[in-house]
Amino acid sequence: VASVAQAAVVEYTFNVGNLSISQLCQQEMIITAVNGQLPGPTIVATEGDTVVVHMVNESPYNMTIHWHGIFQRGTPWADGPAMVTQCPVRPGGNYTYRFNVTGQEGTLWWHSHFSFLRATVYGALIIKPRGGAKAYPFPVPDEEVVVILGEWWKTNVYDLQQRSLVTGNPAPHADAYTINGKPGDFYNCSAPNQTHKFELKQNKTYMLRIINAALNTPLFFKVANHSFNVVAADACYTKPYKTDVVVISPGQTVDALLVPDAGVAAAVGGRYYMAVIPYNSAVNAADPSFLYSLTNSTAIVEYGGGPATSPPMVPDMPEYNDTATAHRFLSNMTALVPNRVPLAVDTHMFVTVSMGDTFCGPEQTMCMPDDKGTIFASSMNNASFILPNTTSMLEAMYKGSIDGVYTRDFPDTPPIVFDYTADASDDNATLKHTFKSTKVKTLKYNSTVQMVLQNTRLVSKESHPMHLHGFNFFVLAQGFGNYNETTDPAKFNLVDPQERNTVAVPTGGWAVIRFVADNPGVWFMHCHFDAHLEFGLGMVFEVQNGPTQETSLPPPPSDLPQC
Ligand code: C2O
Repeated sequence: VASVAQAAVVEYTFNVGNLSISQLCQQEMIITAVNGQLPGPTIVATEGDTVVVHMVNESPYNMTIHWHGIFQRGTPWADGPAMVTQCPVRPGGNYTYRFNVTGQEGTLWWHSHFSFLRATVYGALIIKPRGGAKAYPFPVPDEEVVVILGEWWKTNVYDLQQRSLVTGNPAPHADAYTINGKPGDFYNCSAPNQTHKFELKQNKTYMLRIINAALNTPLFFKVANHSFNVVAADACYTKPYKTDVVVISPGQTVDALLVPDAGVAAAVGGRYYMAVIPYNSAVNAADPSFLYSLTNSTAIVEYGGGPATSPPMVPDMPEYNDTATAHRFLSNMTALVPNRVPLAVDTHMFVTVSMGDTFCGPEQTMCMPDDKGTIFASSMNNASFILPNTTSMLEAMYKGSIDGVYTRDFPDTPPIVFDYTADASDDNATLKHTFKSTKVKTLKYNSTVQMVLQNTRLVSKESHPMHLHGFNFFVLAQGFGNYNETTDPAKFNLVDPQERNTVAVPTGGWAVIRFVADNPGVWFMHCHFDAHLEFGLGMVFEVQNGPTQETSLPPPPSDLPQC
Protein backbone atom coordinates (compact mmCIF):
# COMPACT_ATOMS: atom_id res chain seq x y z
CA VAL A 1 0.00 0.00 0.00
CA ALA A 2 1.53 3.28 -1.06
CA SER A 3 1.52 5.80 1.73
CA VAL A 4 0.30 9.29 1.11
CA ALA A 5 2.74 11.95 2.26
CA GLN A 6 1.69 14.19 5.14
CA ALA A 7 1.06 17.84 4.36
CA ALA A 8 4.28 19.77 4.81
CA VAL A 9 5.58 23.31 4.98
CA VAL A 10 7.67 24.22 1.96
CA GLU A 11 9.84 27.23 2.55
CA TYR A 12 11.72 29.52 0.15
CA THR A 13 13.68 32.75 0.41
CA PHE A 14 13.31 35.19 -2.49
CA ASN A 15 16.09 37.76 -2.64
CA VAL A 16 14.88 40.30 -5.15
CA GLY A 17 17.78 42.27 -6.55
CA ASN A 18 19.79 43.33 -9.55
CA LEU A 19 20.95 40.83 -12.15
CA SER A 20 23.31 41.77 -14.95
CA ILE A 21 22.52 39.96 -18.15
CA SER A 22 23.70 40.10 -21.78
CA GLN A 23 20.96 39.51 -24.24
CA LEU A 24 20.12 40.76 -27.74
CA CYS A 25 23.20 42.87 -28.51
CA GLN A 26 23.37 44.32 -25.03
CA GLN A 27 26.41 43.57 -22.97
CA GLU A 28 25.40 44.45 -19.44
CA MET A 29 21.77 45.07 -18.92
CA ILE A 30 20.63 45.37 -15.30
CA ILE A 31 17.31 43.73 -14.58
CA THR A 32 15.39 42.97 -11.38
CA ALA A 33 15.31 39.25 -10.64
CA VAL A 34 14.76 36.78 -7.82
CA ASN A 35 17.85 34.94 -6.51
CA GLY A 36 19.82 36.05 -9.56
CA GLN A 37 17.74 33.81 -11.82
CA LEU A 38 15.62 34.43 -14.92
CA PRO A 39 13.03 32.94 -14.78
CA GLY A 40 13.02 32.95 -10.99
CA PRO A 41 12.98 29.80 -8.84
CA THR A 42 10.25 27.21 -9.36
CA ILE A 43 8.16 26.58 -6.25
CA VAL A 44 7.12 22.94 -5.92
CA ALA A 45 4.50 21.95 -3.38
CA THR A 46 2.01 19.14 -2.88
CA GLU A 47 -1.72 19.72 -2.57
CA GLY A 48 -2.50 20.58 1.05
CA ASP A 49 0.97 21.94 1.84
CA THR A 50 1.69 25.33 3.33
CA VAL A 51 3.99 27.54 1.28
CA VAL A 52 6.15 30.09 3.08
CA VAL A 53 8.18 32.58 1.05
CA HIS A 54 10.45 35.10 2.75
CA MET A 55 10.76 37.97 0.31
CA VAL A 56 13.73 40.26 0.83
CA ASN A 57 13.68 43.37 -1.33
CA GLU A 58 17.24 44.26 -2.30
CA SER A 59 16.05 45.93 -5.50
CA PRO A 60 15.81 49.71 -5.93
CA TYR A 61 12.04 49.44 -6.51
CA ASN A 62 8.96 48.82 -4.44
CA MET A 63 8.12 45.14 -4.63
CA THR A 64 5.28 42.70 -4.03
CA ILE A 65 4.79 39.11 -5.18
CA HIS A 66 1.43 37.73 -6.33
CA TRP A 67 0.73 33.98 -6.35
CA HIS A 68 -1.29 33.86 -9.52
CA GLY A 69 -4.22 31.44 -9.27
CA ILE A 70 -3.82 30.64 -5.57
CA PHE A 71 -7.16 31.16 -3.80
CA GLN A 72 -5.59 32.54 -0.59
CA ARG A 73 -8.49 31.25 1.49
CA GLY A 74 -7.99 32.61 4.99
CA THR A 75 -4.78 34.36 3.89
CA PRO A 76 -5.96 37.41 1.92
CA TRP A 77 -2.94 39.39 3.19
CA ALA A 78 -0.66 37.14 1.13
CA ASP A 79 -2.27 37.77 -2.27
CA GLY A 80 0.21 40.44 -3.23
CA PRO A 81 -1.19 43.14 -5.58
CA ALA A 82 0.35 46.43 -4.46
CA MET A 83 -2.14 48.75 -2.73
CA VAL A 84 -4.96 46.22 -3.08
CA THR A 85 -3.99 43.68 -0.40
CA GLN A 86 -0.77 45.23 0.89
CA CYS A 87 1.45 48.26 0.76
CA PRO A 88 4.52 47.39 -1.27
CA VAL A 89 7.75 46.30 0.36
CA ARG A 90 10.14 49.26 0.14
CA PRO A 91 13.74 48.81 -0.99
CA GLY A 92 15.56 47.20 1.92
CA GLY A 93 12.36 45.80 3.44
CA ASN A 94 10.98 42.30 3.62
CA TYR A 95 7.71 40.40 4.01
CA THR A 96 6.85 36.75 4.50
CA TYR A 97 4.06 35.31 2.37
CA ARG A 98 2.26 32.30 3.92
CA PHE A 99 -0.57 30.45 2.23
CA ASN A 100 -1.83 26.94 1.73
CA VAL A 101 -2.38 25.08 -1.50
CA THR A 102 -5.40 23.09 -0.37
CA GLY A 103 -7.82 21.89 -3.02
CA GLN A 104 -5.63 23.05 -5.89
CA GLU A 105 -3.25 21.13 -8.13
CA GLY A 106 -1.49 21.80 -11.39
CA THR A 107 0.56 24.61 -12.89
CA LEU A 108 0.33 28.11 -11.50
CA TRP A 109 2.95 30.83 -11.21
CA TRP A 110 4.09 33.83 -9.25
CA HIS A 111 5.03 37.34 -10.34
CA SER A 112 5.73 40.84 -9.13
CA HIS A 113 2.57 42.93 -8.86
CA PHE A 114 4.13 46.39 -8.95
CA SER A 115 4.72 48.53 -12.06
CA PHE A 116 5.95 46.43 -15.02
CA LEU A 117 8.46 44.55 -12.88
CA ARG A 118 6.85 41.19 -13.53
CA ALA A 119 8.62 41.36 -16.91
CA THR A 120 11.59 39.81 -15.12
CA VAL A 121 10.28 38.91 -11.66
CA TYR A 122 8.34 35.71 -12.29
CA GLY A 123 8.53 31.95 -11.93
CA ALA A 124 6.52 28.71 -11.83
CA LEU A 125 4.45 27.46 -8.89
CA ILE A 126 3.73 23.76 -9.25
CA ILE A 127 1.28 21.87 -7.07
CA LYS A 128 1.54 18.10 -7.30
CA PRO A 129 -1.33 15.78 -6.39
CA ARG A 130 -1.14 14.42 -2.86
CA GLY A 131 -1.17 10.89 -4.22
CA GLY A 132 1.86 11.55 -6.43
CA ALA A 133 2.00 11.38 -10.23
CA LYS A 134 -0.06 8.16 -10.18
CA ALA A 135 -2.99 10.33 -9.20
CA TYR A 136 -2.93 12.24 -12.50
CA PRO A 137 -6.14 11.64 -14.44
CA PHE A 138 -4.11 10.99 -17.61
CA PRO A 139 -1.24 8.69 -18.64
CA VAL A 140 1.59 9.40 -16.21
CA PRO A 141 4.42 11.18 -18.01
CA ASP A 142 8.00 10.00 -17.41
CA GLU A 143 9.11 13.59 -16.91
CA GLU A 144 7.74 17.08 -16.51
CA VAL A 145 9.19 20.23 -17.99
CA VAL A 146 8.43 23.88 -17.14
CA VAL A 147 8.10 26.15 -20.19
CA ILE A 148 7.72 29.83 -19.24
CA LEU A 149 7.02 32.27 -22.03
CA GLY A 150 8.08 35.84 -21.45
CA GLU A 151 8.47 39.23 -23.05
CA TRP A 152 11.72 41.16 -23.27
CA TRP A 153 12.62 44.81 -23.58
CA LYS A 154 16.07 46.21 -24.14
CA THR A 155 15.15 48.94 -21.74
CA ASN A 156 14.43 49.28 -18.03
CA VAL A 157 10.79 48.21 -17.64
CA TYR A 158 10.09 50.47 -14.66
CA ASP A 159 11.18 53.48 -16.71
CA LEU A 160 9.13 52.16 -19.62
CA GLN A 161 6.02 52.18 -17.45
CA GLN A 162 6.70 55.63 -15.98
CA ARG A 163 7.21 57.01 -19.48
CA SER A 164 3.97 55.59 -20.74
CA LEU A 165 2.04 56.99 -17.79
CA VAL A 166 3.53 60.45 -18.29
CA THR A 167 3.05 60.54 -22.06
CA GLY A 168 -0.28 58.74 -22.01
CA ASN A 169 0.92 56.39 -24.74
CA PRO A 170 0.78 52.65 -24.17
CA ALA A 171 4.12 50.86 -23.88
CA PRO A 172 5.67 49.87 -27.22
CA HIS A 173 5.79 46.29 -28.46
CA ALA A 174 8.44 44.13 -26.85
CA ASP A 175 11.87 43.69 -28.43
CA ALA A 176 11.56 39.92 -28.18
CA TYR A 177 9.59 37.07 -26.68
CA THR A 178 11.36 34.46 -24.62
CA ILE A 179 11.18 30.79 -23.69
CA ASN A 180 12.59 30.16 -20.21
CA GLY A 181 14.10 33.64 -20.31
CA LYS A 182 15.83 33.33 -23.69
CA PRO A 183 14.82 34.69 -27.08
CA GLY A 184 16.27 31.93 -29.25
CA ASP A 185 18.20 31.75 -32.49
CA PHE A 186 16.46 34.16 -34.84
CA TYR A 187 17.10 37.62 -33.43
CA ASN A 188 19.97 39.92 -34.29
CA CYS A 189 22.85 39.09 -31.98
CA SER A 190 21.35 35.78 -30.95
CA ALA A 191 24.12 33.78 -29.35
CA PRO A 192 24.12 30.05 -28.65
CA ASN A 193 23.66 30.62 -24.92
CA GLN A 194 20.53 32.62 -25.68
CA THR A 195 18.53 29.59 -26.72
CA HIS A 196 17.02 27.33 -24.11
CA LYS A 197 17.53 23.64 -24.82
CA PHE A 198 15.25 20.84 -23.63
CA GLU A 199 17.14 17.56 -23.68
CA LEU A 200 14.73 14.67 -24.00
CA LYS A 201 15.47 10.97 -23.75
CA GLN A 202 14.44 8.36 -26.27
CA ASN A 203 10.92 7.00 -26.00
CA LYS A 204 10.13 8.76 -22.77
CA THR A 205 6.90 10.73 -22.36
CA TYR A 206 6.91 14.39 -21.32
CA MET A 207 4.43 16.79 -19.87
CA LEU A 208 4.97 20.48 -20.60
CA ARG A 209 3.82 22.94 -17.94
CA ILE A 210 3.40 26.02 -20.11
CA ILE A 211 2.99 29.47 -18.53
CA ASN A 212 2.45 32.75 -20.35
CA ALA A 213 4.29 35.32 -18.24
CA ALA A 214 4.46 37.85 -21.10
CA LEU A 215 3.35 41.38 -20.23
CA ASN A 216 1.04 42.25 -23.06
CA THR A 217 0.82 39.44 -25.57
CA PRO A 218 -1.15 36.27 -26.16
CA LEU A 219 1.08 33.71 -27.86
CA PHE A 220 0.84 30.87 -30.35
CA PHE A 221 3.05 27.97 -29.24
CA LYS A 222 4.19 25.01 -31.34
CA VAL A 223 6.90 22.36 -31.49
CA ALA A 224 7.98 21.14 -34.94
CA ASN A 225 7.07 17.50 -35.62
CA HIS A 226 5.10 17.23 -32.39
CA SER A 227 1.54 17.79 -31.29
CA PHE A 228 -0.03 18.12 -27.87
CA ASN A 229 -2.59 16.45 -25.72
CA VAL A 230 -3.81 19.23 -23.43
CA VAL A 231 -4.83 17.89 -20.00
CA ALA A 232 -5.19 21.03 -17.88
CA ALA A 233 -5.52 24.81 -18.09
CA ASP A 234 -5.07 27.25 -15.20
CA ALA A 235 -4.50 24.28 -12.86
CA CYS A 236 -7.86 22.70 -13.68
CA TYR A 237 -8.04 19.37 -15.46
CA THR A 238 -9.62 19.39 -18.91
CA LYS A 239 -10.92 16.63 -21.13
CA PRO A 240 -7.87 15.59 -23.15
CA TYR A 241 -7.72 17.97 -26.11
CA LYS A 242 -5.52 17.14 -29.10
CA THR A 243 -4.02 20.04 -31.02
CA ASP A 244 -0.85 20.97 -32.87
CA VAL A 245 -0.95 24.55 -31.57
CA VAL A 246 -1.40 25.92 -28.06
CA VAL A 247 -2.83 29.41 -27.62
CA ILE A 248 -2.08 31.04 -24.31
CA SER A 249 -2.83 34.51 -22.99
CA PRO A 250 -0.87 36.34 -20.31
CA GLY A 251 -1.82 34.87 -16.95
CA GLN A 252 -2.92 31.52 -18.33
CA THR A 253 -1.24 28.14 -18.01
CA VAL A 254 -1.60 24.97 -20.08
CA ASP A 255 -0.44 21.47 -19.15
CA ALA A 256 0.08 19.35 -22.26
CA LEU A 257 1.53 15.94 -22.94
CA LEU A 258 4.04 16.28 -25.77
CA VAL A 259 3.15 13.88 -28.60
CA PRO A 260 6.00 13.25 -31.07
CA ASP A 261 5.22 12.36 -34.69
CA ALA A 262 5.94 8.75 -35.63
CA GLY A 263 9.61 7.88 -35.32
CA VAL A 264 10.66 11.17 -33.73
CA ALA A 265 11.09 10.01 -30.13
CA ALA A 266 12.99 6.87 -31.10
CA ALA A 267 15.60 8.58 -33.25
CA VAL A 268 18.85 9.67 -31.61
CA GLY A 269 20.02 13.22 -32.20
CA GLY A 270 16.82 14.69 -33.64
CA ARG A 271 16.41 18.44 -33.01
CA TYR A 272 13.21 20.44 -33.29
CA TYR A 273 12.37 24.06 -32.64
CA MET A 274 9.79 25.00 -30.06
CA ALA A 275 8.51 28.42 -31.15
CA VAL A 276 6.19 31.22 -30.12
CA ILE A 277 4.86 34.24 -31.98
CA PRO A 278 2.37 36.85 -30.78
CA TYR A 279 -1.37 36.57 -31.40
CA ASN A 280 -2.43 40.17 -31.91
CA SER A 281 -5.65 41.18 -33.57
CA ALA A 282 -5.23 44.89 -32.89
CA VAL A 283 -1.90 45.62 -34.45
CA ASN A 284 -1.32 48.00 -37.29
CA ALA A 285 0.48 45.72 -39.72
CA ALA A 286 2.59 48.65 -40.90
CA ASP A 287 4.00 49.26 -37.44
CA PRO A 288 7.67 48.35 -37.85
CA SER A 289 8.16 47.67 -34.14
CA PHE A 290 5.53 44.98 -34.35
CA LEU A 291 6.93 43.38 -37.50
CA TYR A 292 10.17 42.99 -35.61
CA SER A 293 8.33 41.12 -32.90
CA LEU A 294 7.01 38.61 -35.45
CA THR A 295 10.36 36.86 -35.34
CA ASN A 296 9.93 33.30 -34.09
CA SER A 297 11.16 33.08 -30.51
CA THR A 298 12.57 29.64 -30.07
CA ALA A 299 13.95 26.92 -27.86
CA ILE A 300 15.39 23.60 -29.00
CA VAL A 301 13.94 20.21 -28.21
CA GLU A 302 16.72 17.66 -28.66
CA TYR A 303 16.56 13.89 -28.38
CA GLY A 304 19.94 13.12 -26.87
CA GLY A 305 22.21 10.14 -26.81
CA GLY A 306 24.11 11.03 -29.95
CA PRO A 307 25.29 13.89 -32.16
CA ALA A 308 22.65 16.11 -33.73
CA THR A 309 21.52 14.62 -37.01
CA SER A 310 20.49 17.80 -38.81
CA PRO A 311 19.61 21.45 -38.28
CA PRO A 312 16.41 21.79 -36.28
CA MET A 313 13.06 21.92 -38.03
CA VAL A 314 11.06 25.15 -37.58
CA PRO A 315 7.32 24.73 -36.95
CA ASP A 316 4.86 26.34 -39.31
CA MET A 317 3.29 29.10 -37.18
CA PRO A 318 -0.21 30.61 -37.55
CA GLU A 319 -0.55 34.18 -38.82
CA TYR A 320 -0.23 36.75 -36.02
CA ASN A 321 -3.89 37.74 -36.44
CA ASP A 322 -5.38 34.25 -36.77
CA THR A 323 -8.38 34.77 -34.49
CA ALA A 324 -10.07 31.58 -35.75
CA THR A 325 -7.19 29.43 -34.49
CA ALA A 326 -7.05 31.31 -31.20
CA HIS A 327 -10.79 31.00 -30.64
CA ARG A 328 -10.88 27.32 -31.55
CA PHE A 329 -8.29 26.50 -28.91
CA LEU A 330 -9.64 28.81 -26.21
CA SER A 331 -13.30 27.91 -26.57
CA ASN A 332 -13.20 24.16 -27.23
CA MET A 333 -11.88 22.98 -23.90
CA THR A 334 -14.18 21.52 -21.28
CA ALA A 335 -13.61 20.35 -17.73
CA LEU A 336 -12.52 16.75 -17.29
CA VAL A 337 -15.51 15.87 -15.13
CA PRO A 338 -18.85 17.64 -14.72
CA ASN A 339 -18.52 20.77 -12.61
CA ARG A 340 -20.75 21.89 -9.80
CA VAL A 341 -21.88 25.04 -11.56
CA PRO A 342 -24.22 27.05 -9.31
CA LEU A 343 -27.49 27.44 -11.21
CA ALA A 344 -29.07 30.30 -9.26
CA VAL A 345 -27.42 33.69 -9.74
CA ASP A 346 -27.63 36.34 -7.03
CA THR A 347 -25.78 39.13 -8.79
CA HIS A 348 -25.86 39.76 -12.54
CA MET A 349 -23.26 42.09 -14.00
CA PHE A 350 -22.69 43.25 -17.56
CA VAL A 351 -19.29 44.87 -17.80
CA THR A 352 -17.63 46.56 -20.75
CA VAL A 353 -13.91 46.04 -21.12
CA SER A 354 -12.35 48.93 -22.99
CA MET A 355 -8.95 50.13 -24.05
CA GLY A 356 -8.49 53.61 -25.36
CA ASP A 357 -10.99 55.79 -23.57
CA THR A 358 -9.56 59.22 -22.94
CA PHE A 359 -9.37 61.28 -19.84
CA CYS A 360 -10.08 64.94 -20.16
CA GLY A 361 -6.70 65.55 -18.60
CA PRO A 362 -4.38 63.98 -16.10
CA GLU A 363 -6.26 65.44 -13.13
CA GLN A 364 -9.70 65.64 -14.76
CA THR A 365 -10.22 68.96 -13.09
CA MET A 366 -11.41 70.78 -16.18
CA CYS A 367 -13.40 68.01 -17.79
CA MET A 368 -16.17 69.44 -19.96
CA PRO A 369 -18.82 67.33 -21.69
CA ASP A 370 -17.34 67.92 -25.14
CA ASP A 371 -13.70 67.45 -24.27
CA LYS A 372 -12.11 64.64 -26.15
CA GLY A 373 -9.02 64.60 -23.98
CA THR A 374 -5.59 63.43 -24.96
CA ILE A 375 -4.52 60.87 -22.39
CA PHE A 376 -5.14 57.18 -22.88
CA ALA A 377 -7.29 55.41 -20.35
CA SER A 378 -8.90 52.03 -20.10
CA SER A 379 -12.01 51.18 -18.17
CA MET A 380 -14.58 48.66 -17.05
CA ASN A 381 -18.10 50.03 -17.27
CA ASN A 382 -16.48 53.38 -17.96
CA ALA A 383 -14.69 53.48 -14.59
CA SER A 384 -10.93 53.75 -15.01
CA PHE A 385 -9.36 52.04 -12.01
CA ILE A 386 -6.64 53.75 -10.05
CA LEU A 387 -4.87 52.28 -7.04
CA PRO A 388 -5.21 54.16 -3.74
CA ASN A 389 -1.98 55.68 -2.46
CA THR A 390 -2.30 56.03 1.29
CA THR A 391 -3.29 52.58 2.52
CA SER A 392 -4.12 49.23 0.98
CA MET A 393 -7.74 48.44 0.20
CA LEU A 394 -7.67 45.31 2.33
CA GLU A 395 -6.50 47.25 5.39
CA ALA A 396 -9.25 49.79 4.78
CA MET A 397 -11.83 47.00 4.60
CA TYR A 398 -10.44 45.29 7.69
CA LYS A 399 -10.48 48.50 9.71
CA GLY A 400 -13.87 49.52 8.37
CA SER A 401 -12.54 52.91 7.26
CA ILE A 402 -12.73 53.08 3.50
CA ASP A 403 -13.10 56.86 3.15
CA GLY A 404 -10.46 58.21 0.81
CA VAL A 405 -9.40 54.68 -0.15
CA TYR A 406 -12.29 53.29 -2.18
CA THR A 407 -16.00 53.64 -2.87
CA ARG A 408 -18.67 50.93 -3.15
CA ASP A 409 -20.24 52.11 -6.39
CA PHE A 410 -18.80 50.03 -9.19
CA PRO A 411 -21.73 49.90 -11.64
CA ASP A 412 -23.41 46.60 -12.58
CA THR A 413 -24.05 47.84 -16.11
CA PRO A 414 -22.40 50.35 -18.46
CA PRO A 415 -23.64 53.95 -18.28
CA ILE A 416 -24.92 53.80 -21.84
CA VAL A 417 -25.82 51.02 -24.21
CA PHE A 418 -24.29 51.20 -27.68
CA ASP A 419 -22.93 48.94 -30.40
CA TYR A 420 -19.88 47.85 -28.40
CA THR A 421 -18.02 46.24 -31.26
CA ALA A 422 -18.56 48.95 -33.85
CA ASP A 423 -15.79 51.39 -34.67
CA ALA A 424 -15.56 54.32 -32.31
CA SER A 425 -17.79 57.13 -33.46
CA ASP A 426 -19.41 60.21 -31.98
CA ASP A 427 -22.36 58.07 -30.94
CA ASN A 428 -20.44 56.40 -28.19
CA ALA A 429 -18.09 59.26 -27.40
CA THR A 430 -19.74 59.47 -23.98
CA LEU A 431 -17.84 56.37 -23.05
CA LYS A 432 -14.62 58.09 -23.97
CA HIS A 433 -14.93 60.40 -21.00
CA THR A 434 -13.82 58.23 -18.20
CA PHE A 435 -12.52 59.28 -14.82
CA LYS A 436 -10.02 57.69 -12.53
CA SER A 437 -11.71 56.13 -9.54
CA THR A 438 -11.30 53.29 -7.08
CA LYS A 439 -14.69 51.64 -7.18
CA VAL A 440 -15.45 48.19 -5.80
CA LYS A 441 -18.38 45.87 -6.26
CA THR A 442 -19.41 44.60 -2.83
CA LEU A 443 -20.62 41.00 -2.72
CA LYS A 444 -22.40 39.14 0.04
CA TYR A 445 -20.51 36.18 1.39
CA ASN A 446 -21.39 33.02 -0.56
CA SER A 447 -23.37 34.82 -3.25
CA THR A 448 -23.18 33.66 -6.86
CA VAL A 449 -22.03 36.23 -9.39
CA GLN A 450 -22.44 36.12 -13.14
CA MET A 451 -20.46 38.55 -15.21
CA VAL A 452 -20.79 39.17 -18.91
CA LEU A 453 -17.48 40.63 -20.05
CA GLN A 454 -18.05 42.60 -23.23
CA ASN A 455 -15.06 43.84 -25.19
CA THR A 456 -15.49 47.18 -26.90
CA ARG A 457 -13.77 48.71 -29.83
CA LEU A 458 -13.46 52.30 -28.74
CA VAL A 459 -9.95 52.33 -30.12
CA SER A 460 -8.83 48.87 -31.04
CA LYS A 461 -10.37 45.46 -31.23
CA GLU A 462 -8.49 42.95 -29.13
CA SER A 463 -8.76 39.98 -26.86
CA HIS A 464 -8.34 41.06 -23.22
CA PRO A 465 -7.20 38.35 -20.78
CA MET A 466 -9.32 39.08 -17.72
CA HIS A 467 -7.87 37.65 -14.51
CA LEU A 468 -9.69 37.31 -11.18
CA HIS A 469 -7.74 37.04 -7.93
CA GLY A 470 -8.98 34.79 -5.11
CA PHE A 471 -11.22 32.52 -7.19
CA ASN A 472 -11.57 30.31 -10.20
CA PHE A 473 -14.64 30.91 -12.33
CA PHE A 474 -16.59 28.84 -14.80
CA VAL A 475 -16.49 30.07 -18.40
CA LEU A 476 -20.09 29.43 -19.46
CA ALA A 477 -19.90 30.74 -23.03
CA GLN A 478 -17.93 32.98 -25.34
CA GLY A 479 -18.79 34.61 -28.64
CA PHE A 480 -18.20 37.45 -31.08
CA GLY A 481 -20.06 40.73 -31.48
CA ASN A 482 -22.43 42.10 -28.87
CA TYR A 483 -23.69 39.73 -26.18
CA ASN A 484 -27.39 39.06 -26.67
CA GLU A 485 -29.11 38.54 -23.33
CA THR A 486 -32.10 36.90 -24.97
CA THR A 487 -30.44 34.33 -27.17
CA ASP A 488 -26.92 33.79 -25.81
CA PRO A 489 -27.87 32.18 -22.47
CA ALA A 490 -29.00 29.18 -24.53
CA LYS A 491 -25.32 28.64 -25.34
CA PHE A 492 -24.25 28.32 -21.69
CA ASN A 493 -22.42 25.14 -20.77
CA LEU A 494 -23.73 24.45 -17.27
CA VAL A 495 -22.43 20.88 -17.23
CA ASP A 496 -18.67 20.80 -17.79
CA PRO A 497 -17.49 24.35 -18.56
CA GLN A 498 -13.79 25.06 -18.32
CA GLU A 499 -12.71 26.47 -14.99
CA ARG A 500 -10.07 29.18 -15.09
CA ASN A 501 -8.58 32.16 -13.33
CA THR A 502 -7.96 34.09 -16.58
CA VAL A 503 -10.32 34.21 -19.55
CA ALA A 504 -9.26 35.61 -22.91
CA VAL A 505 -12.40 37.51 -23.89
CA PRO A 506 -12.65 36.99 -27.67
CA THR A 507 -11.54 39.83 -29.93
CA GLY A 508 -14.59 41.98 -30.60
CA GLY A 509 -16.70 39.68 -28.48
CA TRP A 510 -17.77 38.56 -25.03
CA ALA A 511 -17.40 35.87 -22.40
CA VAL A 512 -19.72 34.92 -19.55
CA ILE A 513 -18.22 33.79 -16.25
CA ARG A 514 -19.78 32.65 -12.98
CA PHE A 515 -18.26 32.20 -9.52
CA VAL A 516 -19.26 31.87 -5.88
CA ALA A 517 -18.00 34.68 -3.64
CA ASP A 518 -17.07 32.48 -0.69
CA ASN A 519 -13.69 34.07 0.06
CA PRO A 520 -13.83 37.29 2.14
CA GLY A 521 -11.40 40.00 1.13
CA VAL A 522 -10.68 42.43 -1.69
CA TRP A 523 -9.93 40.70 -4.96
CA PHE A 524 -8.54 42.42 -8.00
CA MET A 525 -10.03 41.66 -11.39
CA HIS A 526 -8.05 43.09 -14.28
CA CYS A 527 -6.71 42.78 -17.77
CA HIS A 528 -3.48 40.78 -17.58
CA PHE A 529 -1.89 43.06 -20.18
CA ASP A 530 0.17 45.37 -17.98
CA ALA A 531 -0.07 48.03 -20.68
CA HIS A 532 -3.84 48.08 -20.12
CA LEU A 533 -3.86 47.58 -16.37
CA GLU A 534 -1.73 50.67 -15.79
CA PHE A 535 -4.33 52.78 -17.64
CA GLY A 536 -7.13 51.49 -15.47
CA LEU A 537 -8.45 48.26 -16.99
CA GLY A 538 -9.48 46.73 -13.70
CA MET A 539 -11.94 46.69 -10.82
CA VAL A 540 -12.08 45.12 -7.38
CA PHE A 541 -14.57 42.83 -5.67
CA GLU A 542 -15.04 43.34 -1.95
CA VAL A 543 -16.37 40.08 -0.55
CA GLN A 544 -18.00 40.54 2.85
CA ASN A 545 -17.32 38.42 5.88
CA GLY A 546 -19.30 35.25 6.43
CA PRO A 547 -21.08 34.28 9.66
CA THR A 548 -18.15 32.67 11.48
CA GLN A 549 -14.61 33.57 12.43
CA GLU A 550 -13.29 31.10 9.83
CA THR A 551 -15.26 32.93 7.16
CA SER A 552 -14.15 36.39 8.24
CA LEU A 553 -11.03 38.42 7.51
CA PRO A 554 -8.15 37.37 9.73
CA PRO A 555 -6.00 40.08 11.33
CA PRO A 556 -3.00 41.21 9.28
CA PRO A 557 0.33 39.50 9.87
CA SER A 558 2.66 41.47 12.12
CA ASP A 559 5.20 42.09 9.34
CA LEU A 560 2.66 43.48 6.86
CA PRO A 561 4.47 46.37 5.14
CA GLN A 562 3.23 49.86 5.92
CA CYS A 563 2.78 52.59 3.35
CU1 C2O B 1 -1.23 37.47 -12.48
CU2 C2O B 1 -3.24 40.55 -10.71
O1 C2O B 1 -2.21 39.10 -11.64
